[in-house]
Amino acid sequence: MLNEDDPVTRHYGGEALLTTIVDALASSGRDLQRLRPADLAPVDAFHMRGREATTELAGCAGFARGKRVLDVGCGIGGSVRYLAHEHGCRAIGIDLTPDFVTTARALAALVGLGDAVRFLVGRATALPFADGTFANVWTEHVQMNVADKARFYAEAARVLAPGGRLVFHDVFEGPGGVPHYPVPWAADASISFLATPQRVRALLGDLGLRVLVWEDRSERSLAWFEAVAAKHRAAGPPALGVHLLMGPTAPIRFANVTRNLREGRVVVIQAVLEKH
Ligand SMILES: C[S@@+](CC[C@H](N)C(=O)[O-])C[C@H]1O[C@@H](n2cnc3c(N)ncnc32)[C@H](O)[C@@H]1O
Repeated sequence: MLNEDDPVTRHYGGEALLTTIVDALASSGRDLQRLRPADLAPVDAFHMRGREATTELAGCAGFARGKRVLDVGCGIGGSVRYLAHEHGCRAIGIDLTPDFVTTARALAALVGLGDAVRFLVGRATALPFADGTFANVWTEHVQMNVADKARFYAEAARVLAPGGRLVFHDVFEGPGGVPHYPVPWAADASISFLATPQRVRALLGDLGLRVLVWEDRSERSLAWFEAVAAKHRAAGPPALGVHLLMGPTAPIRFANVTRNLREGRVVVIQAVLEKH
């Protein structure tokens, strides 16, 4: 069931988001009449290492033109637009936060992809699709907001066609202790449900998903945050960035996630798994 008052949607929502993004695009010198999907990358890749991570993940998954791809927890739709535009996929995004879905549709129209992609409001643990619908299920930085990991991954596996691939880039519990909050995905521990990579890997095996790629990206993520922080110290924050999705507490959220990575409180894994 969708709940307008879900604490996760309250964490992420923001009615004026589209206006904020369009204003930032204009003030950072982008020509709004000639926007390309890649122009949105600084703001629409709401995960560690931004567009770099999206491109890397797509590269290790192997996407074929015309294949159906579902992005679970698509946010404002950056990866959906990327997969449609760069890989020719028939991409659909689903997300719990209505403001993000509305913004995802409007941004797709703005870059001329309005007819190429679809966005729906929905819950990852109750996907509104028949079994075996998709060649790929893609998800980045979503399951840490989902308490029921078994259901989250079971739904992803269910909607995959046999031979299809689950592709993810995600945040997990590290050995270094409880994370410092707030972080980009949660103001406090009440909507942050971190599991260890070992637990999730075992769960995926039980669902009949075979690991093709399993890579720890924690060090690269930390280096990326440190480089971004150094740039901000030197030149100030850019007009266009994912801080627009986080509001005034963005700096402390960035600082905490950097510290959590440095202290091994969270780890980042990218993976590709195949369904039998
Ligand atoms: C950190 S953002 C990542 C967005 C996007 N995957 C990206 O990388 O740009 C987390 C997203 O997960 C969505 N989300 C959290 N829990 C969800 C659930 N149970 N079902 C669907 N979406 C969910 C949130 O609404 C938010 O858009």
